[in-house]
Amino acid sequence: MSAIRRSRIADLLASKEFNRSVDVKGWVRTIRGNKYVNFVHLNDGSTVKNIQIVADTEKFGAEFFKPITTGACIHVVGTLVESQGKGQTCEIQADTIEIYGTADPETYPLQKKGHSLEFLREIAYLRPRTNTFGAIFRIRHNMAYAIHKFFNDKGFYYFHTPIITASDAEGAGSMFQVTTLDQNNLPRTETGAIDYTEDFFGGQTNLTVSGQLEGELGAMALGGIYTFGPTFRAENSNTPRHLAEFWMIEPEVAFNDIIDNMDLAEEFMKYLIQYALDNCQDDIAFLNEMFDKELIERLKFVVKNDFVRLTYTEGVKILEESGHKFEFPVFWGADLQSEHERYLVENHFKCPVILTDYPKEIKSFYMKQNEDGKTVRAMDVLFPKIGEIIGGSERETDYDKLLNRTKELNMNTDPIWWYLDIRKFGTAPHSGFGLGFERLILFITGMANIRDVIPFPRTPNSAEF
Ligand code: 4AD
Ligand code: MG
Repeated sequence: MSAIRRSRIADLLASKEFNRSVDVKGWVRTIRGNKYVNFVHLNDGSTVKNIQIVADTEKFGAEFFKPITTGACIHVVGTLVESQGKGQTCEIQADTIEIYGTADPETYPLQKKGHSLEFLREIAYLRPRTNTFGAIFRIRHNMAYAIHKFFNDKGFYYFHTPIITASDAEGAGSMFQVTTLDQNNLPRTETGAIDYTEDFFGGQTNLTVSGQLEGELGAMALGGIYTFGPTFRAENSNTPRHLAEFWMIEPEVAFNDIIDNMDLAEEFMKYLIQYALDNCQDDIAFLNEMFDKELIERLKFVVKNDFVRLTYTEGVKILEESGHKFEFPVFWGADLQSEHERYLVENHFKCPVILTDYPKEIKSFYMKQNEDGKTVRAMDVLFPKIGEIIGGSERETDYDKLLNRTKELNMNTDPIWWYLDIRKFGTAPHSGFGLGFERLILFITGMANIRDVIPFPRTPNSAEF
């Protein structure tokens, strides 16, 4: 056994220190050989690139290489040498090879040839081993890190909001219930209703659809906070942009108005995209080459240009006057569909757009009400290829106005008494927004389906792995 430590292949490929002993471990992508020499392309997940292992056939014996097939996991100790071959700077001359695990070519699904993304979804337990998903999941990690860095550098605090809640933060009613009650023998009240006082939490609970309401409590004490956690929506929308379990980032900032909120959202998005361009070059270049030839251009364009800001009313007017045939009708008061959002972004402005001041009927109860009595201080950030990537608003800080709105909407305010109450104790202007993490990753990777940017997607009728 060698005393040297395992090197990451990414570090070796970047190294110029040749003729030293190295130790690598990884999964075989390809192997080919003849009676003189064998070439193994090895990947350890640290980069989209493989390192070439050169092994003398006679030294190991031809039989030795038989179980080393695509997908096998091996441990190689050898010498890092400058490469004579094209396409790589260095390679490893193998001294010893240990086989950790074989992968039977008859049953291992990931053979050399390219596979469709649909097929790879069916084998989601193996797809991180492909170049494509390796690239996507490394980018996903880098974006998570950049999000924490952005907010930490700005003096925001990472505030942990609960996953199990009793409230419906968006008032949309699309929640997964959390219960320990025996579904085959439900306790009943005298009137025959399910008796949730018998349930684990002594009341009805669900998985959170958003950490915002609790996030606002954090902002009312710490100034600037953000959440970054899983959120759950039981909407039966089978689209390339919806998941039943997705991750959301929700900053909430005391004293920010809607303009500050838009400025923060724009700065945040540009920071993340620039971070990806600077730190995920190989992976983005790979995705640009394989899936979306305009990806890098599009990312650079968004960083360089100001987002266009206009009101919902102005946006609807543009759509109505466009003469474009939309699948869903567009009129003042309509909830905009992805096709409308993308028309504004891709056809009309050719630039990211922030729409503000939506009709109150199509937005959540907590948004600050405008003087006109018809609209609220909402903002949606719309991106090319995605449509809505961020939703946010300035919040209603006036206790009576907020209470009135909940009454108009026939909301049960019992589970959110504290949310109303905070308006009585040192209330202050504040704003925030939510960025859908997977929609961000869709944009950064150029992928077309949200199921391909999260390791284990949860969608209607699908919770495997
Ligand atoms: O617009 P939404 O519903 O806003 C909120 O939840 C607010 N509480 C945010 C806030 O102001 N703090 O969701 C925010 C974002 C959307 O813009 C979208 O990017 C993403 O979350 N999103 C989803 N992503 C994947 N699958 C779903 N089903 C999503 N629903 C929303
Ligand atoms: Mg929204």
